[in-house]
Amino acid sequence: GAYYIHHRMQSSRRVILQDEVKHVLEPFELSDEQLRRVMANLNTQMTNGLKSNDSENNDLAMFPTFVNFRPNGQESGEYLVVDLGGSNFRVSHVNIEGRNRLRLKNKIFLIPHSLLLGEGEKLFDYIAECLQRFIDDNGLATHKRADYKFDLAFTFSFPCTQTSLSQATLVSWTKGFSCTGVVGNDVVLLLQNAIDRRKTLQIQVVALVNDTVGTLMACSSLYRDCRVGVILGTGTNACYFENLDNVPKWAGERNQSTKQIVINTEWGALGKHGCLDFIRTKIDRELDESSLTPNQQIFEKMISGKTFYICKLVIFKRNLALYLGEIVRLIIIDLVRSSILFPDRMQKAPSRGRDYNIFLSLRGSFYAKHVADIECDKTEDLSVTASILTSIGIYDPSYDDCYIIREVCKTVSLRAAKLAAAVIAVVVNRVNMPSVTVGVDGTLFRHHARFRKNLIRTMSRLVPRTHRLVLSEDGSSKGSALVAAVNRHNQETLTS
Ligand code: GLC
Repeated sequence: GAYYIHHRMQSSRRVILQDEVKHVLEPFELSDEQLRRVMANLNTQMTNGLKSNDSENNDLAMFPTFVNFRPNGQESGEYLVVDLGGSNFRVSHVNIEGRNRLRLKNKIFLIPHSLLLGEGEKLFDYIAECLQRFIDDNGLATHKRADYKFDLAFTFSFPCTQTSLSQATLVSWTKGFSCTGVVGNDVVLLLQNAIDRRKTLQIQVVALVNDTVGTLMACSSLYRDCRVGVILGTGTNACYFENLDNVPKWAGERNQSTKQIVINTEWGALGKHGCLDFIRTKIDRELDESSLTPNQQIFEKMISGKTFYICKLVIFKRNLALYLGEIVRLIIIDLVRSSILFPDRMQKAPSRGRDYNIFLSLRGSFYAKHVADIECDKTEDLSVTASILTSIGIYDPSYDDCYIIREVCKTVSLRAAKLAAAVIAVVVNRVNMPSVTVGVDGTLFRHHARFRKNLIRTMSRLVPRTHRLVLSEDGSSKGSALVAAVNRHNQETLTS
């Protein structure tokens, strides 16, 4: 159609554009050599993090989680799960009857924007209110004895120091949350108190579980060689089974039966002390500096990027989180400034200039979903790209504009996939087994086919041992319920 003709007419100009675009995108291209350097740096940081809790010098927290078991298929019972910290806030009811017999019913609740930035107590009261609604709507309490208490697992996807399965102090918020009165406090207690304030709820919070740990547990119950759990979504993080012998800082029990423990790496913080500076671009720095949390979650911001924005638009729309979108938007702005993109924009649609300016000035107006859809645009006239651009206020883009923006999306997404591959590779290599299954969850992995393909392809170059990545659907909630189930089983064995 029209774009195609335009494209033919403009082809000589495009050759020149290509060089300029290449120049802008070059810093985002990573060689395997650079990836191997990232891998070596992560490996060192992991070892250091296992030695001591010296956050002045270590990038990674490497939290021991008090999960030292794998589900054995004997788990049973019903559990409630509250899952906070991903793109959605969910309440689930999980019924477990052995391996493969896990039934999950859940409901997604939207968290009002104001609660993410307000008083912590209000956030926890809201969670308790949602729990109440969920229980009432599903008639869960009606058939229970008067003294019955639900066991609840709290999937809380933020960095926490744990002193037991059910004691966890929040170290810092990530991913755009910043309620007051929570950092430095025991989040299990905060939730329990909010539940107890509503006299009608009969619930005890029995475990705090990071989303990576939930994912690992859910996947472990299905695959014997699963030892790693990864989240690639609103944030990014991984956990894995480590030999206690390799954890000098472990202050808990050491006995014959506990040889391994799950470590929550919090790898999103990699780069805090500069070890990623050799690949960070001007745009990465810009994004970090304008964020709510400068110099935190450096690695996470290169992959997911939600950390920096608090934008009404996005928090209210499910599954439209930003991830890579903001990096792409910042590159687009750069290209506009140097007149590579939309050179005659205002002449073509002066009346629509306002929407265009909104796009350019509004943080978070370009979503990861846009990146995914545009990079997969295989139409000859790039009409998919054109219509996405139109939908966000860039009317009548030329073929060249669309072409360049598709290049930008491909490049940014490929970089994220390569970086994700490099860090997963390190953990897989550390887990000393002939074959390893990695349980993965998160919107980036679930919905972005090209990202997934690039990730798998890069990993096959970086990991010598047999490995596979398995999507763990609802993993974080199911796995947390499994943790609660093992916990109950252990309690019962102790008392009997
Ligand atoms: C952030 C959190 C981490 C979580 C990850 C994925 O990196 O700090 O705890 O696992 O996001 O949700």
